[in-house]
Amino acid sequence: MNPIDDFISATLKERENNDSIRSLKPESSLIDFCSNDYLGFARSPELKAAFEKEIGKHPDYFLGSTGSRLLSGNNEFTEDLESEIAGFHNSEASLLFNSGYDANIGIFASLPQRGDTIICDQFVHASIIDGVRLSHATRYVFKHNDLNSLEEKLKLAKGRIYIAIETVYSMDGDEAPLQEICALAEQYNAAVIADEAHAIGVFGRQGRGLADQLGLNSRIFARIVTFGKALGVHGAAVIGSMQLRTYLINYARSFIYTTASPILNHLAVKVSYAFLQNRDHQSKLNERIEAFKSGLDPLINIISSRSAIHALLVPGNVEVREKAKSLQSSGFDVRPILSPTVPQGAERLRISLHNHNSIAEILNLSNTLNQIL
Ligand SMILES: Cc1ncc(COP(=O)(O)O)c(C=O)c1O
Repeated sequence: MNPIDDFISATLKERENNDSIRSLKPESSLIDFCSNDYLGFARSPELKAAFEKEIGKHPDYFLGSTGSRLLSGNNEFTEDLESEIAGFHNSEASLLFNSGYDANIGIFASLPQRGDTIICDQFVHASIIDGVRLSHATRYVFKHNDLNSLEEKLKLAKGRIYIAIETVYSMDGDEAPLQEICALAEQYNAAVIADEAHAIGVFGRQGRGLADQLGLNSRIFARIVTFGKALGVHGAAVIGSMQLRTYLINYARSFIYTTASPILNHLAVKVSYAFLQNRDHQSKLNERIEAFKSGLDPLINIISSRSAIHALLVPGNVEVREKAKSLQSSGFDVRPILSPTVPQGAERLRISLHNHNSIAEILNLSNTLNQIL
């Protein structure tokens, strides 16, 4: 074997030995308790019909965008969509990215400069971490949702200061203390960049997110919204000032050096935002969240959450895998979250609830969890 194959084989072996090897699985026919399709939009026949109707209004659409937004990949429809999204989120401007991953890489790698400081919550998403790694700014990490720890780092910070958080954490389902973080940010003249990936559709007026629910839109420098979760489609946007939008168009490499997503995707985003606003999806989801929580034995080790994400701690990769297998054999699509995705000892069953889960299915899941945990 050549040295590269040796390296690959040894590294994969290590994962196998730790019981943390990842592999792709085909789609599942079990009851969905693992997708991010919280409102059931991705599978909604009504939304699909609205999408097809929208396509009918653009009979000459191109299958591909044919280039970067800065070259041949831009069009009026996309720019109008960006204005609409900005308006919905009560902001001056928005800029689309091909994914939430790209949006976070784009803003964090381009905006903070050498001599600046980025202070991240310990549990921010990998896309934020990767964006920060690409930046030349100094990086500090504060303990998850711990305001004292954040303030300690703020005291050490130099240059322009950025605070990177999620409003709802993807693996824990808990919320950032947003009000207090904004107050600290103002005290230290720092800019908050908040990833709302798991809050959109779930919190705020018509699903505008947690910042909106708390009346904090104008106190947050930039929000990242993603379309691949509650909105059921694909892509993302950075929401902020017109000046920030212009800056990202000029400097965010994950915006500049990539083929724009096709208009079909933008049509889907448009109809999905419209669908979000034409009905109260949140009450239905909240009813399901309440049913799940009230059905669970209070002794179960669960991270407190008001969101669609519920983390039940089962330490150990082998142990959590076994519990997930047992749930799967009872018909529930529940996946284990292993270390190193979460810290060792904090392995968990990550259960997400959806509007396409019936209350009976949810109570059945709670009962089964009460028996096996
Ligand atoms: C908090 C958070 N931010 C960003 C992303 C990335 O978004 P996308 O899936 O659109 O790339 C995810 C999704 O995994 C996420 O959970």
